[in-house]
Amino acid sequence: MSSYIPEDVLRNVLEAANIRQVVGEYVPLKKSGRNWIGLCPFHPDKDPSFSVSEEKQIFHCFGCGEGGDVFKFLMKMQGMSFVEAVKALANRYGIIIPERPRSSLDQKRHMETEELVSLNLAAAGFYHKNLLHSSGGSDARAYLERRGLKSDIISRFRLGWANDRWDGLINHLKTEGLSLDKAEKAGLLVSRESGKGCYDRFRGRIIFPILDRSGKAVALGGRILKDGHPKYLNSPETPVYNKSRVLYGLSQNKGAIRQAGRGYVVEGYMDLLALAQSDIDQVVATLGTALTEDHVKQLRGLCKDWILVFDGDAAGVKAALRALPFFYKLNLRVKVLNLPAEDDPDSFVGREGKDSWEALVDTAGSGLDFAIQQGLASYGKDPEGRFRTTEDVLSILQPVSDPVRKSLLLGHVAQKLGVREESLWERLNAGNSSTIVPNIRKRYGLSAEVKNRKGPENRAEAKLISFLLGHPQYMKTFLDAGLDLWIEVPSLRELWMAMSHLYSMSGNLNLSDLYDQLEPVPELRTLAMRLSADFAPFEDMEEKILSDLKKYCEDRRNKVLRWNVLEQIKAPAEVVDDEDLLRQILQLR
Ligand code: UTP
Ligand code: MN
Repeated sequence: MSSYIPEDVLRNVLEAANIRQVVGEYVPLKKSGRNWIGLCPFHPDKDPSFSVSEEKQIFHCFGCGEGGDVFKFLMKMQGMSFVEAVKALANRYGIIIPERPRSSLDQKRHMETEELVSLNLAAAGFYHKNLLHSSGGSDARAYLERRGLKSDIISRFRLGWANDRWDGLINHLKTEGLSLDKAEKAGLLVSRESGKGCYDRFRGRIIFPILDRSGKAVALGGRILKDGHPKYLNSPETPVYNKSRVLYGLSQNKGAIRQAGRGYVVEGYMDLLALAQSDIDQVVATLGTALTEDHVKQLRGLCKDWILVFDGDAAGVKAALRALPFFYKLNLRVKVLNLPAEDDPDSFVGREGKDSWEALVDTAGSGLDFAIQQGLASYGKDPEGRFRTTEDVLSILQPVSDPVRKSLLLGHVAQKLGVREESLWERLNAGNSSTIVPNIRKRYGLSAEVKNRKGPENRAEAKLISFLLGHPQYMKTFLDAGLDLWIEVPSLRELWMAMSHLYSMSGNLNLSDLYDQLEPVPELRTLAMRLSADFAPFEDMEEKILSDLKKYCEDRRNKVLRWNVLEQIKAPAEVVDDEDLLRQILQLR
């Protein structure tokens, strides 16, 4: 374990952390003037003499004289060392600390990181100038103007233009004496298949530099100007760019978010920029990927109230539902703004303006209500529909850690769905194996014995799951058949439950979505990846495989049903495979 923490990491942690939130978890705080006050945890205190300044990010006790920054607070409060406190906070706010001490290899890696960032910066500068001044950029300038983006926004976000040619950036890098090799590593250039030389990755695109939270250029995004595919192209993942941690606009907008005390999460570059153009700056955007827990960790120190504003279409609804658990888990408040179905934030604010936007924001309901409403709309309001809705909603509330909040939210759900609150609690407490997977064992009365039995069938189960991962068109067949009843191996059954959950939510089985969803359960995620890598050999004989597997399922179901009978009469395990004996026993009964 490293005991050296690089300066820039320290700065990032300090910047991301919010001392009031951290202290507030130990000491109830009340607002008093510009500060927050409470009873000092470090000495017996009758009047609140302990004060926290959010502006200065420090605490001070007028009684005992203790004081310092957020690191110091955790050190005192938790008896941590400085390094431990930094690590705890880094983890809390989604910031990576390099693992090992600084060997010469690490040193080299660090230098490379800096180099990649400076190449991204050089490229962003080149493209920006190109947009502003080159004759080739005139179409792009007209395009941005048509989309309502003025020069203040263009320069604040350093938008650029990549000409539609293969060597625009290459030539620039050459004249600047910069390394093409490193530019390729940064994802700015692409190696030719022949292995000889490179070409520009971004061609004929508006360029959006992507900064990390401290303002370093870690990647670029590019929107095609004419029709063509893909509409948006981003830098690939590189040593400096991890898209499940980086949020567009966070660096420019974090101050505005702190100040406003609430923030919007939108899906696109243009959404964020259009809002900025309408003086709405408390915004971050995801970059063509689902919002992850690491993203939300980056947000948690900025403010407590978040509003998800995803596109009004089905994909947007799905994305919102998937993001909700992270906010509840991290103890943030979250709402979902329903845009008209044909709108995204860009089109809405462009047409209706800031006031209408704000009026619409006032109508946003809580994330929980959104999940309930979406569940009922897609599953129906009859008991079965409400049951499925309950399952989805409980998986959002499962990770809520504050018992009071959990209780209040559950009470709300119980009332909305017409379920007894105690049943919800029972359900929550029973589903302890994983947060995504509803507790099915109970539902089907599967005994522990059945659950733990291993046998040759397990291979067939794995095969079936692997088949379905590769052939989602068969999901419905097996979903309708209630496959969970048949699968014995607990891990496979949990994986299946996650698959069926995703499938019922989205009508599809997108593997990267599945992996995202399984992120909290690494074993399952690995299992899913392994099984999905295996499916290829089935390709040419789907029908045959399918009917075999169906038959297998039927056998399995019979077996499980028998098991349940056998268990009731306490028969030995071997009996289940022995038809005659089984019949005899059943008759004996
Ligand atoms: P949208 O397709 O909703 O685009 O993608 P948009 O933001 O409304 O863009 P305009 O208004 O048509 O210009 C939303 C986000 O998804 C990512 C981008 O980050 C985009 O901003 N995306 C989209 C990609 O990464 N690749 C694509 O091909 C499309
Ligand atoms: Mn749009």
